Amino acid sequence: MLIRRAPEVPSSEITPESLYLDRRSFMAAASFAALDLAAPSLGRARARRVRDDEKPTSYASITHYNNYYEFGTGKEDPSENAGGFKTRPWKVEIAGEVAKPGHYDLDDILKGQTIEERVYRHRCVEGWSMVIPWSGFPLRNLITRVQPTSRARFVEFTTLYDPARMPEQRGGVLPWPYVEGLRMDEALHPLTLLVTGLYGRPLPNQNGAPLRIHVPWKYGFKSGKALVRIRFTADQPANTWNVVAPNEYGFYANVNPTVDHPRWSQSRERRIGEFLRRPTLMFNGYADQVASLYAGMDLRRNF
Ligand code: MTE
Repeated sequence: MLIRRAPEVPSSEITPESLYLDRRSFMAAASFAALDLAAPSLGRARARRVRDDEKPTSYASITHYNNYYEFGTGKEDPSENAGGFKTRPWKVEIAGEVAKPGHYDLDDILKGQTIEERVYRHRCVEGWSMVIPWSGFPLRNLITRVQPTSRARFVEFTTLYDPARMPEQRGGVLPWPYVEGLRMDEALHPLTLLVTGLYGRPLPNQNGAPLRIHVPWKYGFKSGKALVRIRFTADQPANTWNVVAPNEYGFYANVNPTVDHPRWSQSRERRIGEFLRRPTLMFNGYADQVASLYAGMDLRRNF
C-alpha cells in the first residue's frame, strides 16, 4: 500500500485520513506477507506495523506539533513558518570515508528506490510520542550504493544551513547547522529509514522535507531534518544536543524508561491525542530487533 517510486504523489492520489484508517483496519485483517503475494496490484508493498491497537496519530497533530528549531521553538512555529521553504532542487552531499563521494541530486537518489510505508512509534525526549505512517526507504539502501570504506565506523547527518531560508538560524538558539550521528551498524539497521513522506503524501516542510531520517528506537532528536550532507567518519561525530547540554543528551539517545533525563523521568510518555500517560517501552518497543546492537554496553553511561 501507498507505494510510490516517485517522490511526489499527485494530489488526486492523496488519501484522506479517514479512508487511510479504513484501509488500515482492512489491512489488519490479513497478514502482510499473504497480502503481498495475493494482491499484485499492491506492487512491492511492504510495511512494518506497530501493534494493531496503535492507531496512527492524526495528520493534523503530526504536522502541527513539531520540533524544528530552524523555523521557531514553539510547537506550531514550524507549520506556520516553513510553508514557503523550497525543497527543489535539492542536493545531498555524500562525503568522508566512502568510495563514491559527490553532490547527488535528491531526485537521482530517489530514482530506483522503492518507497515503502513504515508505521513507526516516534518518541521525543521531551516525553511525548506519536505513531507516524512514514514513507521512505531504508538508509542502508543508500549506504550500500555509495560504498563506505573499511574505515567508516560512524555516519554524520547535517541539516541545511541557510539563514535566508531558515529564520531561526539568524539567531543563536542552537549552534547551526543541526548535526546528528549514528554508529554504522545503527545506520545500516533495516529499521533506520530515510523519510520522504507521511500518510502517503509528500513530506510536509515542518516534518523535514525533502529528506529526513527516522530512527524509531531512539529519541526524536537523533532524526535530523532537511538533510544536505551524509558523511562517513572513522570517529564518533558531534551531535547538536550533546554539544549544547552533554549531561542531558547523549550520543546514543536510545529510548530507555530506566534512565531518566536529569530534569525529568523517562518512564512514561504522553501519546499525542490520548489523555492518560502510558509506560515508555525499552528501545521504544523495538528491543527484539535492536537490543543486540548494544549487547555488553552500559546504557547508563552510554545514554
Ligand atoms: N532536525 C533539525 N534540523 N532541527 C530540529 O530542531 N528537532 C529534533 C528532530 N530533528 C530538530 C530536528 C527533535 S527534538 C525531534 S523530537 C524531531 O525532529 C521532531 O520531528 P517531528 O517534528 O517530525 O515530529
